[in-house]
Amino acid sequence: NYLGIDLGTSSLKALLLSDRHEVLDVAEVPLAVYTPHTGWSEQSAEDWWAACCEALDALASRQVAGMAAVRSIGLSGQMHGAVLLDDEDVVLRRAILWNDGRSAEDCAVLSRCLPDLPQIAGNLAMPGFTAPKLLWVAREEPAIFARTRSVLLPKDWLRLKLCGEKISDMSDAAGTLWLDVAKRDWSDELLQATGMQRAQMPQLVEGSAVGGILRPELAHRWGLRERLLMAGGAGDNAASAVGIGAVSPGDGFVSLGTSGVLFVCTPQYLSAPHSAVHAFCHALPGVWHQMGVILSAANCLRWVTGLLGRDSERALLDEVAMLDDTARQQAPIFLPYLNGERTPHNDAAASGVLFGLRSTHAPAAIGYAVIEGVAFALLDCLQALTNSGTAVGALGLVGGGARSAEWAQLLADVLEREIHVYADSAHAAAVGAARLAWLADGGNTLTVCLKPDVSARLVPNLENTGRLRGRHARFARLYAALKNEFD
Ligand code: XUL
Repeated sequence: NYLGIDLGTSSLKALLLSDRHEVLDVAEVPLAVYTPHTGWSEQSAEDWWAACCEALDALASRQVAGMAAVRSIGLSGQMHGAVLLDDEDVVLRRAILWNDGRSAEDCAVLSRCLPDLPQIAGNLAMPGFTAPKLLWVAREEPAIFARTRSVLLPKDWLRLKLCGEKISDMSDAAGTLWLDVAKRDWSDELLQATGMQRAQMPQLVEGSAVGGILRPELAHRWGLRERLLMAGGAGDNAASAVGIGAVSPGDGFVSLGTSGVLFVCTPQYLSAPHSAVHAFCHALPGVWHQMGVILSAANCLRWVTGLLGRDSERALLDEVAMLDDTARQQAPIFLPYLNGERTPHNDAAASGVLFGLRSTHAPAAIGYAVIEGVAFALLDCLQALTNSGTAVGALGLVGGGARSAEWAQLLADVLEREIHVYADSAHAAAVGAARLAWLADGGNTLTVCLKPDVSARLVPNLENTGRLRGRHARFARLYAALKNEFD
């Protein structure tokens, strides 16, 4: 068996995968997010470790034989977050997360000081990334910055607790803005630009390579073998890709989680920083990927469900499903920038907009506008990728939003691509982490990185194309018109 641990934003999951590709058990522990100011987003690294222990304690109590048969462990994690440690590896402050917009000014400064940054990093300086967060800390919390001996990404902090070593993998390291993504190595130039040095960075390994050995006392606590290997692991998007077998050029998926992602494997390193396309290393050696990232996807639906007083997202989507074409055509237009936006605008100040409200609009029309607005933002991502020369074919669908047939069909119609819903993709990132553990244990990519069974293939409904293209054009004009009004 293989153990995958996925440190998400809303929860941590520990998953046991058999070598027949069956998910034997999953333990999930919710996590709190702190928002001390509008646009800020933090979590406590100690909470992550407590959740990891709770999840593994639960698995160990339910799966005594299963845990004893584990051959290696893999990690997946929310990307970009900065865990600051002093010289005794004590955490210096709460971690600043991927969806935190406080370092927008620092990004502007960084881009001015190092005009070559997008060439080296393959990416634009964006507030979600790790490096600008350190500039903010240096500016606003200089005493903490001065004591910062090392910086770890979220899952790599769990690794430090699990095995005592500071190690990261290429896919997650690519999201720091300190990595030379083409060379798959830290860039001294990028590090210096934020007052950091290579010695403050973890050692780098490939996601499918060995990256640590579990501490003996933890192996004992969870009924695991002595000297259990850990894999390098991956950022959660690359891990999800491995989890659904998206490892070859052209393979791609949409993720409707807290964030929304359009991910495509590229034949080589291919960057397109100016439209805020993310060009990152994949979790397997010699493979890269691109992605467009929107900061609010499934959480837009969660938010509007609460506002409209519906009991569940499902209840609201059932009402949306009843709307006819005229009601959809007359629905408001929603810009889903509740938390600022990355691709294609790189605009931390952007906010949500519900445009064109009438007294005749029912809650269902607003629910429709919200899922359509998220789909339009993902279309902007798709266009940013295709404009950079990346071919995008059929796309898999993962994340909580994949449970909605209504949303999946709308994505097919808006993206004008076939959307594949899998029989089981609820834990794609945790499965991917377990698969990386399997590869580190000697597994072969061809037999480990299988594609799951497709339970539904949603084909674009051409009758909707004209209406949706028109509404998307208006969506784009609205952002352009309002761009200078956000603050
Ligand atoms: C990717 C990103 C998010 C997080 C979510 O760049 O910021 O998808 O990885 O966990």
